[in-house]
Amino acid sequence: MNSEKLKIAVLGGTGNIGEGMVLRLALQNLMPEGVKNEVIIGSRSKETANEAAKKALSELENCGFDISRITITGSTNLEAVLVAEIIVLTISFDYVLPLLDEIRRALEGKIVITPVVPMVKEGNLFLYKPPSEGSAALAIQKRVPDSTKVVAAFHNVSSAKLKDIVKCESIYDALVCSDDAEAKKLIMELTRNMGCLKPLDGGPLKLASTIESLTPLLINIAKLNGLKNLGINIS
Ligand SMILES: NC(=O)c1ccc[n+]([C@@H]2O[C@H](COP(=O)([O-])OP(=O)(O)OC[C@H]3O[C@@H](n4cnc5c(N)ncnc54)[C@H](OP(=O)(O)O)[C@@H]3O)[C@@H](O)[C@H]2O)c1
Repeated sequence: MNSEKLKIAVLGGTGNIGEGMVLRLALQNLMPEGVKNEVIIGSRSKETANEAAKKALSELENCGFDISRITITGSTNLEAVLVAEIIVLTISFDYVLPLLDEIRRALEGKIVITPVVPMVKEGNLFLYKPPSEGSAALAIQKRVPDSTKVVAAFHNVSSAKLKDIVKCESIYDALVCSDDAEAKKLIMELTRNMGCLKPLDGGPLKLASTIESLTPLLINIAKLNGLKNLGINIS
């Protein structure tokens, strides 16, 4: 990794998990061991992205963090991908494949992180519903250029816990899958510095289905047992 700041685009960074991801990535700039970065929030609307960037900065400032060493900007999804080295897809499975078709050429040689969980609601509960490729991660890999390194991570992380940047009582395991060892190592380092997560090597990308399928399990167990924001802790 070079000494320049990494540019990380969080597409759909205006949504639930994207918001927490943006805050946790930006905070790494204040940690001695954190991966220094600039965060670009991607959205279908530049205006929405700019508002989300302003909101994230003011939340960090209100929590007492020094925002002079933090850069968060807003952009359209495509503009964000064009400048970034790492792209996080915090978008629902229903919309992520058409978006990848729009931004495909700009993904050459870059790292794409997928936390995407394909699931359907049945009554009050959720079922894992992978595409024919076997998982969202494998469907995404099929849609991006061969030079793009796909890393599956953050599927089992609660957005509420990620956004809770002041209180950080529990450390959850975060399973990371990829076929590219270097990309996996970098994303595990980013994960370790999120403050609430312990990265564990989850193996090659073909194993991502096992990790994606844990998310509906966590949501259902929470609903059925009156619990909230569950995560996994297997280590
Ligand atoms: N929420 C969680 O706790 C959690 C945990 C683990 C994994 N995940 C995964 O993370 C992903 C995002 O989940 P989320 O709950 O954060 O989603 P979300 O808040 O419902 O949506 C995220 C963003 O998607 C964009 N979006 C909406 N419709 C779109 C469309 N038709 N085309 C392109 N973009 C569209 C919106 O951004 P703009 O309107 O700004 O374009 C929205 O802010 C999902 O794949 C989910 O499985 C979520």
